[in-house]
Amino acid sequence: AEGFERHSHPTPMVSLDNVTTAEDVRDWIDGLDRFLQSDAPRRYCLEPKIDGMGLELLYEEGRLVRGLTRGDGTQGEDITLNARTIRAIPLRLKGEAVPPFLAVRGEVYVRKADFVAFNDAAREADERTFANPRNFAAGSLRQLDSSIPASRPLRYFAYAVGNEGGPPYPSQEALLEAFRAAGLPTIPETRFADDADAVIAAYEALSAAREDLPYELDGVVVKVDDVDLQRRLGMRSRSPRWAVAWKFPAQRATTVVRDVDWNVGRTGAVTPRAILEPTPLAGVTVSHATLHNIDELGRLGLRIGDPVEIERAGDVIPKVIRVLEDARTGDEVPIEVPTACPVCNTPLERDPERVVMRCSNFACGAQVHARLVHFASKHALDIRGLGEKQVRQLLDAELVRDAADLFKLELDDLAALERWGRKSAENLRAQLEMAKTRSLDRVLVGLGIREVGERGARILARAFGSLDAIAAADTDQLVELHEVGEAMAEAVVAWFGESHNREMLARLVAAGLEPEPLEAIQGGAFDGLTVVLTGKLEAISRKEAQGLVEKAGGRPASSVSKKTQLVVAGPGAGSKLKKAQELGIEVIDEAEFLRRVGR
Ligand code: IVH
Repeated sequence: AEGFERHSHPTPMVSLDNVTTAEDVRDWIDGLDRFLQSDAPRRYCLEPKIDGMGLELLYEEGRLVRGLTRGDGTQGEDITLNARTIRAIPLRLKGEAVPPFLAVRGEVYVRKADFVAFNDAAREADERTFANPRNFAAGSLRQLDSSIPASRPLRYFAYAVGNEGGPPYPSQEALLEAFRAAGLPTIPETRFADDADAVIAAYEALSAAREDLPYELDGVVVKVDDVDLQRRLGMRSRSPRWAVAWKFPAQRATTVVRDVDWNVGRTGAVTPRAILEPTPLAGVTVSHATLHNIDELGRLGLRIGDPVEIERAGDVIPKVIRVLEDARTGDEVPIEVPTACPVCNTPLERDPERVVMRCSNFACGAQVHARLVHFASKHALDIRGLGEKQVRQLLDAELVRDAADLFKLELDDLAALERWGRKSAENLRAQLEMAKTRSLDRVLVGLGIREVGERGARILARAFGSLDAIAAADTDQLVELHEVGEAMAEAVVAWFGESHNREMLARLVAAGLEPEPLEAIQGGAFDGLTVVLTGKLEAISRKEAQGLVEKAGGRPASSVSKKTQLVVAGPGAGSKLKKAQELGIEVIDEAEFLRRVGR
């Protein structure tokens, strides 16, 4: 997005020189010895190089006054409002010993698991997915509407200071300690080493731990720990002499596309997938790669039989990076884009705005299968032992047609299935019994309403309390809710408007489904309270304030009535404030509000 103001960094945000081998690192250290005219032992700090987006936070007297992207290194984009939505970023630094001015530098990132979950939900809702965690962080922060970053699982690690004259601490270690004391998160896997051998060993340990860490790292940053030495070492032309980025080797491989198949999802979306000549990549054998959508096929210019370079994006789903055109043999054949559903043969429709092809047949075998698998999945009703294979068996044996039938499955029928037996049949029945009382938000996820992911489901469940209430809501009531947009509201109304959905829901309830209402967030400052915000807020945006009300267990509302229990009034508050006073409702100001929510 354009439209961000630009502001200068207190000192330029530089990049780091890359090294790729242990040799390079020894050379770098030898260079330091020469520059300093000393081979006296010195300490190094090793931090994972986080694969996210750089963000500088300017604190004045401990208060966050600005958040800047790297930009061109000299000037960055002012994304203060977006930075404020990241929970890990303190609006005020903790403690007494906070310097009058501090330019904190660090990385906005997303955890691997959150990234995968986000993309899964987006794919199911036919929304935009991101190729890697870095794109996710950058795409979320460069938004003019701060409710977007607010709704994304963004996190922050602080690792440097951009103050003029350098950090007001004697060492990188002291700097990191001061950050933690001030409430700024630092990278837990940071290590220290006293010589080249120890640096290499620490790099290797981090490299080995890489797979198990919750976030993506693309290498290790090695820094001279002593800040006086950093000052003396200073800058090369564009990068500091006192630090280097030791990049991990890229996780790429080349292979051949054997075929492309078309997967029909739960909403009927038909997406291409490359079937690969199996090849080892980053510790696993890869035999499939995502191709996202038809546009991606065109962009790659892919043909069947093509030699391709693949990459494990986000360490999870491999993707095709490019076609190795020079290595083509001439026997490659064009990909045929289907015009009918590969499963039920219904002619495909192509979404005008979205690059999605869709099978519109609700009874399409692939959709029925995908809907059931989704219903039983971990984030939905979490029915253990009911995965793709078992659902296939149930459908093939004509024991079920939809989710409601699951709760009527007979022990004998299950036990008679191939490779099942009595024990598995009993287990599934027990699982189904437990699933009957899953929480309302999980049931909503399980229904597979478009646009309703885990977060949306929680919002609906908290606000309405029952399936009946949600079914009865109209779009106006739905968009009233903070964070429920037009698209979600319409999708909810449309879902409950379909007779086959209402009929299935009725049978689910008849079969004993009794969703547990969501308990209010325990111990929240606004547990169960209806809160109205009015007038001008100064420290945070209204969107953020509404989010904070919800996080504290409250329900943000737009008009003051007898049901209102608390009003937050800023300067310029008018009729709502007056009405609150008439009704004797408690009124607080923004500062008190922030205090109560712990910000
Ligand atoms: S230190 C002078 N530490 O890598 C020191 N950077 O090429 C400047 N990065 O743009 C940066 N993790 O966005 C540092 N632990 C870490 C890092 C890190 C990721 C990024 C940062 C910077 C780039 C440097």
